Amino acid sequence: MISTLTQVTPETLGEIAKEMGIRRTQEVFLLFALGSQFDHLIKQKLDELGVFCLVADPARVTANDVRLLKPIGIILSGGPASVHTDPPPFDAAIFDLGIPVFGICLGFQLWAQHLGVQVQPADKREFGVHLLTIADHSSPLIGGITYSTGFQVLESHGDRILPHPDLEILGSTEHAPVAAGHHQHLWGVQFHPEVSDTEHGLELFENFCFTICGAKDTFPAGDVSQEKIAHLAQTLAGKIILLALSGGTDSSTVAYLLKAARIRATLPIQIVGVYIKGIDRPDDEAHVREFFGQQPWLQLTVVDATEQFLEALKGVTTMEKKREAMRNVYKAVLEAEAERWRANVIAQGTLYTDISESGEGYDSGATKARIKQHHNVGLQFSVPEVTPLADQVKDTGRNIGRAVGVPEALLLRHPFPGPGLILRIEGDITKDKLGIARVLDDIFMEEIRKAGLYESIWQAGVFLTHSVTKCTKGDGADFGLVAECWAFWSVNGFTAQAAEIPWEVMKTISRRMTNEIREIGAVCFNTSDKPPRTIERG
Ligand code: XMP
Repeated sequence: MISTLTQVTPETLGEIAKEMGIRRTQEVFLLFALGSQFDHLIKQKLDELGVFCLVADPARVTANDVRLLKPIGIILSGGPASVHTDPPPFDAAIFDLGIPVFGICLGFQLWAQHLGVQVQPADKREFGVHLLTIADHSSPLIGGITYSTGFQVLESHGDRILPHPDLEILGSTEHAPVAAGHHQHLWGVQFHPEVSDTEHGLELFENFCFTICGAKDTFPAGDVSQEKIAHLAQTLAGKIILLALSGGTDSSTVAYLLKAARIRATLPIQIVGVYIKGIDRPDDEAHVREFFGQQPWLQLTVVDATEQFLEALKGVTTMEKKREAMRNVYKAVLEAEAERWRANVIAQGTLYTDISESGEGYDSGATKARIKQHHNVGLQFSVPEVTPLADQVKDTGRNIGRAVGVPEALLLRHPFPGPGLILRIEGDITKDKLGIARVLDDIFMEEIRKAGLYESIWQAGVFLTHSVTKCTKGDGADFGLVAECWAFWSVNGFTAQAAEIPWEVMKTISRRMTNEIREIGAVCFNTSDKPPRTIERG
């Protein structure tokens, strides 16, 4: 989906030279995307530093290609593969070219193994934030970073690298003796400097690019929102656009990008926003109507698909199948609306994260795990699709929203998944369960707002489990369902930490849920971080 270098030919060298001319640089970095969920975050960090970086396919780009291209540095992402059971396709001769390499997680394990260092499954795997204790304070990778003994890093790995005489240990964590290491021109970390939970991540990339590789040229990042508006104005002039508009940050940002493109286009652009109701929260529709119902530049249409959703979800119990059923209804509604409005194009707020988690993304020969099939990825509509945020993640998408004038109240709303409440209900979906999930959400949101926590929390929700607990309400014996509340602090949803909710607030929430909802017998709070869990249960 996003263009990737697959081989070096005179044609590709010509194109790259042209791009380098525009950026006034002689320097190029290569990022081998090994299937990590975070690969695009690495690219964003390098863009932020202003260096020119090409994403390369590890299965196809060989040492000979690299020799021809002469990058000044090479970065290897992490990935779901393991070097002993299913090593990813990669020409290890690239490590012998003498070009500085920065391996991240699997990328580090690959060069370590090539060197003859032992990489083995760890007894105690590390997921989440850990303290990196620095062993070599003078290393150029760490230079300029202020810390006392170490700093926090995010790890997500099952294999560990063992100490070896040829490997200089730069830092370690509790269960990773070589969390950062170095050998001649090869550098590596077991943690993820590209995610926001890792402290000093950008500085590590900065040290690699400028101190270790000697990069000198930087190119200011263009105004991304203006570039997107210009592109939309040019490609959508004279067209009718049907926008899937949930009122969340991403689809709202796309609406405002289209609004700006409409002003700039040489031919009229008509924007129809379609809101699909049925598996949404009680206040979602009102929210969309409030912000988009009265806009002269957008026609809002609300489609009640409750019965279609319930019919498609009848008897479906696994999350994967529920997602599929939801996705089919979603596509059918959009197709029908596109036909009704004679739309030439369907627009969605799909983010890179959605694409990546669906197992797509950089066109790389490495295996990418499919975390979940997102409802808004790979739908193959009968009309062309426009996804202006497909190269963005949540926080950068929000920045674009801010730049194009999306009201702050829309931007600050907690994310809510497209498949809506079906992801918040265990087992089969019924009208009654949807009703309970709505009240649970209402109570939770009301109490965290009252406690002044809503803005500091990235996202919160309640999962209606099908666990049954014995309970006593009044003097009678009864059974009730267990509701599981969760709340996260995060920057872009890639990683997240369980938010701390004061005990008194938890008690109020629990009391209200068990008192006000007859079917609820107990309430628990999930305290696990992402990783290892994901934000939604399915
Ligand atoms: P996970 O569950 O992957 O969630 O940790 C990360 C963020 O994405 C949201 N999410 C979705 N959003 N369609 C969406 O539009 C989906 O299928 C979907 N699944 C998860 C989730 O709520 C969180 O904000």
